[in-house]
Amino acid sequence: MCGIVGYIGPKTATPLLIEGLKRLEYRGYDSAGIATMNGAGLESRKAKGKISMLEAVVEGSPVHGTVGIAHTRWATHGAPNECNAHPHHDCTGTIAVVHNGIIENYGALRQMLIQQGHKFESETDTEVLAHLIEAAMDDDPLEDAVIDALHLVEGTYGIAVISSRDPDKIVAARKGSPLLLGLGENEFYVASDVAAILEHTRQVVYLDDGEMGVLTRSGYEVLDLSARRVRKGVSRIDWDLDQIEKGGFDHFMLKEIFEQPQTIQNTMRGRLVVDEGFSKLGGLNLTRQQMLDLDRIIITACGTSWHSGIIGELYIEELARIPVEVEYASEFRYRNPIVTKNTLCVVISQSGETADTLAAMREAKRRGARTLGLVNVVGSTMAREDDGGIYLHAGPEIGVASTKAFTSQVIALALLTLKLARLREMSVVKGRQIAQAMLELPDQIQSILDRASEIEAIAEQFKNATNFLYLGRGYNFPVALEGALKLKEISYIHAEGYPAAEMKHGPIALIDENMPVVFIAPHDSVFDKIVSNIQEVKARGGKVIAITSQKEPVLEKLIDYEIRIPQTEDMLYPILSVIPLQLLAYYVAVKRGLNVDQPRNLAKSVTVE
Ligand code: AGP
Ligand code: GLU
Repeated sequence: MCGIVGYIGPKTATPLLIEGLKRLEYRGYDSAGIATMNGAGLESRKAKGKISMLEAVVEGSPVHGTVGIAHTRWATHGAPNECNAHPHHDCTGTIAVVHNGIIENYGALRQMLIQQGHKFESETDTEVLAHLIEAAMDDDPLEDAVIDALHLVEGTYGIAVISSRDPDKIVAARKGSPLLLGLGENEFYVASDVAAILEHTRQVVYLDDGEMGVLTRSGYEVLDLSARRVRKGVSRIDWDLDQIEKGGFDHFMLKEIFEQPQTIQNTMRGRLVVDEGFSKLGGLNLTRQQMLDLDRIIITACGTSWHSGIIGELYIEELARIPVEVEYASEFRYRNPIVTKNTLCVVISQSGETADTLAAMREAKRRGARTLGLVNVVGSTMAREDDGGIYLHAGPEIGVASTKAFTSQVIALALLTLKLARLREMSVVKGRQIAQAMLELPDQIQSILDRASEIEAIAEQFKNATNFLYLGRGYNFPVALEGALKLKEISYIHAEGYPAAEMKHGPIALIDENMPVVFIAPHDSVFDKIVSNIQEVKARGGKVIAITSQKEPVLEKLIDYEIRIPQTEDMLYPILSVIPLQLLAYYVAVKRGLNVDQPRNLAKSVTVE
């Protein structure tokens, strides 16, 4: 998920690699490392924290040579520390590997390799690759051993490998994690992102999944995983650095919105057992009996994460039939909550560092609850202190307004619900139906994103509004809250989210012809009810923007703007219906000329009470 850069050519590798890593800093990372070939063998250095820390290490104890690889890590398996930083090595210290992505079957592979006598140094999934390559290495070229190793691996990877046993070479391969080769004058690069090499070349070859690049001093070739040569075209990069950092998008927020088909897939990957309608969640640290004994679940979080928590409450109560309470983390410890020994406290946090959520988690623990963290940042304080966890695997979120973390949180809550519900009353048929619908979500999100320009056009109409109402019912009420929060955060327009029927108990007084009202009205079990609420708004002259999931003749005369989303299971609509609301907030803010990625007064992670 994070950054790779590699170099082979006539120049000293270290400064080029460090420079390349700095160009990848914008992606977010927690540690960094470098390995070079010095003529006699491999040298490597690593450091936790910023690249400047790695630079200091390398200054004090330089690595030499004209071939090397380097990495910025965004931990998925194992805490962010020096030992877990990449490159990882085999037992002989002759192979170095950097890796982006997740090796799903690393547990089984690690076990197998340990039985064969391999010694592991880190907690990462990546290290199995180094040992697998070692086990496959004979007198044949390095790429053959890498191919053998990759045949055993399930999951996603972008990798770069060097070995002192085949010294004038870098082998790179990709499956599900971007990688490209950079072609310079008598020198070659590999990188996960053009930003890392743009200063040196604009000629690149993009690797596709299942392809491998072999770079030597005299040239490069691309092979498939059967060692057959693949003919590839060379592309020229015309973007400037700023465009590249944002993946061609104008802002990180937009990039992250568009990443969601991929990020929710990463949250589900290896966890959803479709045929059984079940989920495998390795980190829960709860026995079957403990899960059956749960008599109460408290979900606590702040902001966007709190909104996903309300969806979690609806999921768990509906399907697993365990009473759930959702608490603002900031309130939780200032009252006297009921916590039993069979209470599970679920904390939800993108950053894993939010002070209020952390304090609530500690308080729940102190009162005897078991804690479960749904956290994105591996090795964050919450992830270290919870009793069990489900990592979101959404990758670094840089935009201050949270987008992709939200959809991954909802997916993680759905996975947790499948687990708890299937242990109880929910049938395999129901579980399978939900799991199958979950698998369709990435393509469905993509189909909404493909029509972003329609939402941009709606934003143009409302960019000067001073108030907004967001209304939804059932599973989509928390989405109304989230839609309103997104708009408030980045466009500074006052917005309220309400349960649609609650509107008539007060907010209806606000409605006039200047009030845009966003209804989240997919065709679910409460659709007929929400139609009545739309009528109430229309009767008072409000402007209705409706998110619908099919052609609704009954709405035709009532709504001014329609945003269509695909059909799914009722409970999964929030994952689709939030996407247009993220886009609406984004485009309104951009049209108002505001700094979308760093809105005024807000911090990405609120580490003070
Ligand atoms: C979301 O757009 C916000 N910036 C904010 O509400 C955020 O969700 C909240 O501060 C919680 O952060 P966390 O998920 O990192 O704990
Ligand atoms: N899964 C690997 C790790 O945790 C790679 C993470 C990354 O993509 O940076 O070390």
